[in-house]
Amino acid sequence: MVPKRGTWKYFEKLSHQYGPIVKVRMAGNDFVVLSHPSDVEELASGYEEMQYKESLRLLVDLVKSPAEFYKHCARFPASLVFSLTYGKGLGDDGKDLAEVQSIFTTFIRDVGPGAHLVDTFPVLDLLPDFLSPWRAEARQKHKWELEVYGRLALTVKARMGKDSEMECFVARLWEQQEKLNLSNEEIYYSKRSFFAGSAFAAGTDPATLTLLWFVVAMALYPETAKKAQQEIDSVFESDVLPSFSRMKDLPYCSALVKEVFRWRPAAPLSIPHYTDADDEYKGYKSSSKSIQILKGTTVIGCVWNMHHNEEDFPNSYTFNPERYLSKASDTGDIAESLTEGHYGFGFGRRKCPGQHMAAKSEWIAMVRILWGFNIERRMDAAGNIMDIDIEDCTPGLTARPKEFPVNFVPRSAAHIETIMLNEGRI
Ligand code: HEM
Repeated sequence: MVPKRGTWKYFEKLSHQYGPIVKVRMAGNDFVVLSHPSDVEELASGYEEMQYKESLRLLVDLVKSPAEFYKHCARFPASLVFSLTYGKGLGDDGKDLAEVQSIFTTFIRDVGPGAHLVDTFPVLDLLPDFLSPWRAEARQKHKWELEVYGRLALTVKARMGKDSEMECFVARLWEQQEKLNLSNEEIYYSKRSFFAGSAFAAGTDPATLTLLWFVVAMALYPETAKKAQQEIDSVFESDVLPSFSRMKDLPYCSALVKEVFRWRPAAPLSIPHYTDADDEYKGYKSSSKSIQILKGTTVIGCVWNMHHNEEDFPNSYTFNPERYLSKASDTGDIAESLTEGHYGFGFGRRKCPGQHMAAKSEWIAMVRILWGFNIERRMDAAGNIMDIDIEDCTPGLTARPKEFPVNFVPRSAAHIETIMLNEGRI
């Protein structure tokens, strides 16, 4: 029985007894407790090389087919998380990407507030199966998810047979399967832990959207883009690809990345959380001023409102990296500071576990794009600048701008040469 008080002390004892990864059962649910930062940040170790490789691939894609930038922005984070989870980048035929993306798009649509009538009227859930088509549909979708993630995880297992040194998150789970008493399904996909499928689904979509909002911002605020480019040019000339090594010399760029997270958060409602016990807010339980949160209520932490609070962020609708330049960092670490001063990664206990790796990935992608390209508004046949409607998003829990008209123009032949030369080396 897991004690309700001092649970962490109990977990400490378990970790001394059984090691850094332990599975426990609480209130009918399985939990996996990770005690070693290297397990939580498994996805962290050695990821800079992958970030370089995948952001270079993004630049190459933008040189080769700039009009398809929407697709390239989706591939970049997906391939990164894919490598960390399954030990290899996405296949070039686009099949892996299309499949996992469609799972996530369906998930986002389904968990949006009011997506199903049963979310609004939970009593409908008592109806038998034949009157509850949404239940059969949900089971069907889950089966399909398991099939996709299962296939990927089994491929890792097969590769481990040939390469015993293979390092990736799923390989580590297979190694520990017996010790942790994990079922195959738990390795494929588990909502309760940072496991394969869930990390992939949670990691790729918001990272793509953040990159797309960056492109929109650079097209709408060319003066800001120019300032960032001047800063980059003072550090990296056209024959050197930007790297993390000079991060501290690019404060304006880091502020710009933070401003993208704030200006258009990828998950403006964060992820709604379901309460499994009655709760109260600010010490009140039932007075006219209080908000009573009954068991079964969905709580939405509205990141959008937090980011558009004029007191904290004056002229909040304007994209303005300078607002972050004057703010001191809590930690003093530039990479970590990318996740401070906004709620783009959620808050509290459920804050995004991939935040540091994700923020750095966005940084390298954005800095490298600005180094190599100008992002320009497209003209129509009559020579007028085409409209970008930033309120025109696809429906769902995450904010995805509909395809918008911009051109990626390489800044010089020397920049292109550097990109292609580096590609040839890997
Ligand atoms: C720019 C990129 C990203 C953004 C903006 C982002 C944002 C978020 C947000 C807002 C949440 C919900 C937090 C909450 O419930 O309050 C979340 C959860 C999560 N994120 Fe991220 N994320 C990003 C990238 C990643 C990456 C790269 C990974 C994995 C490698 C990842 C893994 C997860 C997981 C597993 C959860 C679920 C945590 C839970 O339910 O306990 N995320 N993320």
